[in-house]
Amino acid sequence: MPQLLHVDSSANLVSSVSRDLTGLFADTWRARGPEFTVVARDLHRDPVPHLPDAELHYAARLRTPDATSDPAAEARQAELIAEVAAADVVVIGAPMYNWSLPSTLKAWIDHLHVLGTTVPFDTADQPFAGKPVVVVSSRGNTYAPGTPGAGTDFTVPPLQQVLGVSMGMAVTVVTAELTLAERIPVLAPLKEQADASRSAARHTVRTLGGTLGG
Ligand SMILES: Cc1cc2nc3c(=O)[nH]c(=O)nc-3n(C[C@H](O)[C@H](O)[C@H](O)COP(=O)(O)O)c2cc1C
Repeated sequence: MPQLLHVDSSANLVSSVSRDLTGLFADTWRARGPEFTVVARDLHRDPVPHLPDAELHYAARLRTPDATSDPAAEARQAELIAEVAAADVVVIGAPMYNWSLPSTLKAWIDHLHVLGTTVPFDTADQPFAGKPVVVVSSRGNTYAPGTPGAGTDFTVPPLQQVLGVSMGMAVTVVTAELTLAERIPVLAPLKEQADASRSAARHTVRTLGGTLGG
């Protein structure tokens, strides 16, 4: 049974662009047949706490001899890792918050990126290697090459680094930019560009949701 892990992190429960896009991905996935199942993790409604203990960044066998990790925290981390392991495809809503990731999404990433467990350290194991992950990035402004914001997107690069480079997952990024064109007067002239970006993102998400993991 192909399984999708559908992750959201937007704090906007009314008109979120990333939630719209990840939801469209999940709907397209489900429409492929009853065997296409979805597990949802909403990091805003049900936040993962900050990583409570630096030793949880390491597999148990790699921790310092005096490390004593809280069993509940270890169990939580194991559950989050198992959820990704069980998924054939992962879709992540990643809004830009202050040029970076929502802290809820960062806390989830901090639980998942574990030396010797999900990334190679003393062994070459990379259990998530090749697993498709779609990062849906929504941002109020534009960070396209040649714009004043170019080079200041610190949302997508860390996700590419952690999920793609370090964990070896097959990352696809879908971007919806200028989502605040209707709200911020200075961006109003870019409304058409915003609409084009949104509809291109919807098209890409539909294509990916209908093809990945089959
Ligand atoms: C706390 C916060 C910080 C934000 N910081 C930025 C920012 O640095 N750059 C930007 O372009 N937009 C910023 N925005 C706007 C969001 O990126 C934009 O509204 C986006 O659509 C959010 O995703 P969502 O629609 O899925 O909630 C911020 C929004 C919030 C709530």
